[in-house]
Amino acid sequence: MKTVIFAAVLAASSIGCALQAQATEHPVPRLVENDGRYALLVDGAPFLMLGAQSNNSSDWPATLPKVWPAVEYLHANTLETPIYWEQFEPKPGQFDYSQVDMILAQAREHHVHLVLLWFGTWKNGSQHYMPEWMKLEPERYSHVTNKTGELVDSPSPFAAASLEADKRAFTAFMQHLKNVDPDRTVLMVQVENETGTWGTLRDYSPAAEKLFEGPVPAEVLKAMSQAPATPGANWEDVFGPEAEVNFHAWAIAKYVGQVAAAGKAVYPLPLYVNAALRDPLKPGAPGTYESGGPTDNVLSIWKAEAPAIDVLAPDIYISNTEAYLKVLGLYHRPDNALFIPETSGAVHEARFLFSAIGLQAIGYSPFGLDYTRTHSVQPGQPDAQNAFLEPTAQNYRLIGPMMRDVAHLNFEGKLQATAEVEGEPTQTLHFGNWDAVVSYGTGGRGPAKGNPEPIGRALVAQLKDNQFLVTGYDCRVDFRPAGTEQQRKSGNIVAGTGQTPSALIDSKWQHRQFLRVEEGIYENGAFKFMRILNGDQTDWGLNFSSEPEVLRVSVATY
Ligand code: DGJ
Repeated sequence: MKTVIFAAVLAASSIGCALQAQATEHPVPRLVENDGRYALLVDGAPFLMLGAQSNNSSDWPATLPKVWPAVEYLHANTLETPIYWEQFEPKPGQFDYSQVDMILAQAREHHVHLVLLWFGTWKNGSQHYMPEWMKLEPERYSHVTNKTGELVDSPSPFAAASLEADKRAFTAFMQHLKNVDPDRTVLMVQVENETGTWGTLRDYSPAAEKLFEGPVPAEVLKAMSQAPATPGANWEDVFGPEAEVNFHAWAIAKYVGQVAAAGKAVYPLPLYVNAALRDPLKPGAPGTYESGGPTDNVLSIWKAEAPAIDVLAPDIYISNTEAYLKVLGLYHRPDNALFIPETSGAVHEARFLFSAIGLQAIGYSPFGLDYTRTHSVQPGQPDAQNAFLEPTAQNYRLIGPMMRDVAHLNFEGKLQATAEVEGEPTQTLHFGNWDAVVSYGTGGRGPAKGNPEPIGRALVAQLKDNQFLVTGYDCRVDFRPAGTEQQRKSGNIVAGTGQTPSALIDSKWQHRQFLRVEEGIYENGAFKFMRILNGDQTDWGLNFSSEPEVLRVSVATY
C-alpha cells in the first residue's frame, strides 16, 4: 500500500523527477511542498518526526544513559538534543567534534534519528552558550544596550565579531555532519534557540540607533505589505508602536539568516528556528513577550530576511485548547510547514499531536523527556517514574508504526485528524462523498457528551472513494454520506451521534452501511489484517478506547 500511495504522490507532484535523480542510498533529508502541503523526505519518502527533546544539559557522556531509556519507552523515532557552542569551540578556531560524534554513534545504536539544536549566539534570548573566550571579551562580542545605556543579558545582533564567529563555528559543525553522517541520522538542525531579547525591545547602541533612524529596507516593507508614506520613511514612521519589535526582528533574522546560509552552503539539511510565543489570543503590547524572535507578528520579516531557514517553529507551552489551536494555525502557513519542536507532554496536551497532524505537521516533540530530572515517585504508584512520559508514549505507540503512511497520506491531502475540544462532543471531517463524524464520551449507545476530561483524538484517511484508515483514542468514529449542513441539522443524517437506527431511516437520504471493518496492526510500516469487526463492535460506530487500535473500513450506502 505504501508504495502505491507514494507512487501516486510522485505522479501528482512536480518532485518526481528530482527524486528519481537522487540516486544515492540515503539522499539528504529535505522539505518539499505540493499544493500548500509539506513533507519532510527521509530516504526519499515522507516521514513524520515523533520526537522527544532532551533537557538542555543532557547531551553528555554521563547523562545520555538517562536519555535513551526514555526515548525507548516513548517509542520516539527522533531525539532532539543540543550541540553546545562552548563545548564545540573551546579555543578560537579549534573545533572539538567529540560530542557530535558521540551522539551520532549512540543514536545509530538506538536506531533513532536526530534533530541537533545549535545552541550558538542565542539561547532563550541570552548568550550563555558562547564559549568562554567570547564571554571574556564582552566589548568585542557585545550585548544589547538598553534605553538607559546598560548592557543586558542578550547578544547584540549588530555584533559583527559574534556573527563572524558563529558563522565559522556553525559552518564547521555542518561540514563535519556532512562528512560523518552519510546515513542521514540527522534530519534537521535548529539554528540558535529562542532568539530575541527579554527586558528591552531592541538594541539602543549607537550603531543600532543609526539604523533605526534610517529607512526601512525595501524587503521588510514588501514582507509586511507596507508602502512608505514618504520616501525613505524610518521604522517609527512606518510601524508606529510596532517599530522597535519589527526592527529587532529584522536585525536578528538577518544575523541568523547569515549563520544558516553559511552552514547550508556546505550541507543543505533542512534548518529551522524556534519561537518563544506571544499570547496567541490576546497578544500584549511589545515588551510583554520576547522581542525579535520569530513570534507570529513578525514571521514575514523572518521569511524575508532568513531564506536559508526552512521552517519557523513554535514552542508551545500552552494548555488552553483555543490558544493551542490558534498557535497551530498561525504557524501553519502556505509559506511555512508546521513543526512543533517543543511542547508540553502532559496528559491534557498530548491530544494536540492529532491537531498538528491534521495540519500536516512534519514533526512534533515534547520537551524534557529524559530521566535527568527527578520525577517524584508517589507511594502506591510504582510506575510513577514514567508518568511524565506516558501521554506521549501512548501517542507514539499508535502513530509510530504507521508514521510513514500518515506522512504519505497527509502529503497527498487525504488525511484529517482532530482532537477533542471542550464543549464540542462531536466533530465532522469532510471527505468528498463521505463525512466522518467523531464523537466523544458516547458511553454505550447514549448521545455524545464529551469525555469527562477532553482527551479524545481521531485520525481518518481516505484510501479509496469508499475506504478509510481510521484510528484514535477515547472516541467513536462513524461515517455518513455527505450532505449539506442544513440537511444534517434537520436530523435526517445523524450517524455517529448515538441516535437510534430508526431515526436514520428516511427515504430522502442515503444511509451508511459497513461493508467490512478490518482490525489490523502495522508491521514493518504496512497494515496487516487481523480480524473483521462486526456486531457489537460496529453496530454503533467504531469505538476507540485508550488502547492502540487501527481499522481499515469499507463503507457503502443503501
Ligand atoms: C524553551 C527553550 O527553548 C528550551 O531550551 C528550554 O529552556 C525550555 N524553554 C525550558 O522549559
